[in-house]
Amino acid sequence: MINSKVEGALNDQIRKEFYSSYLYLSMSAHFASLSLKGFAHWMKIQANEETKHAMKIYEHLSERGGKIILQQIDAPPSEWKSVKEMFSEAYQHEQKVTESINKIVELARTEKDNATEVFLQWFVNEQVEEEASTYEITQKLQLIGDTAPVLFMMDAELGKRTSPS
Ligand SMILES: [Fe+2]
Ligand SMILES: [Fe+2]
Repeated sequence: MINSKVEGALNDQIRKEFYSSYLYLSMSAHFASLSLKGFAHWMKIQANEETKHAMKIYEHLSERGGKIILQQIDAPPSEWKSVKEMFSEAYQHEQKVTESINKIVELARTEKDNATEVFLQWFVNEQVEEEASTYEITQKLQLIGDTAPVLFMMDAELGKRTSPS
């Protein structure tokens, strides 16, 4: 049986992953409203990935005999001032998620829950990628600015993102 502290932390992480999905889906909708279809596509894939993250934790909890208690998910923002602002928010959000994952790794270690500690290594690696991809786009927008020509070029680029199987 899974330790109740670890169980609580994992339930909370399920909520955070679903919130991430909500946030990126809201960003996708906002991009679509700006006719930035490539950005919208990129964010929709991101949102789908976050749902998968939530479900990965759900399955782990379930396999370990933990009780899954789904929590309320906050409404994400629906308006942003600029594309630059959206990506820096996404990057900051991913940094917070990394922090949260790291805390659960530490908790699992303290509680001697080896299975959860090993399970979370996948998320530790995933967060490196998540931070890198949002950071790269944020940096690009900071450096060259989010003017219309830049956004149209980036829109074509981001529209090529494929979802991992
Ligand atoms: Fe995630
Ligand atoms: Fe993420």
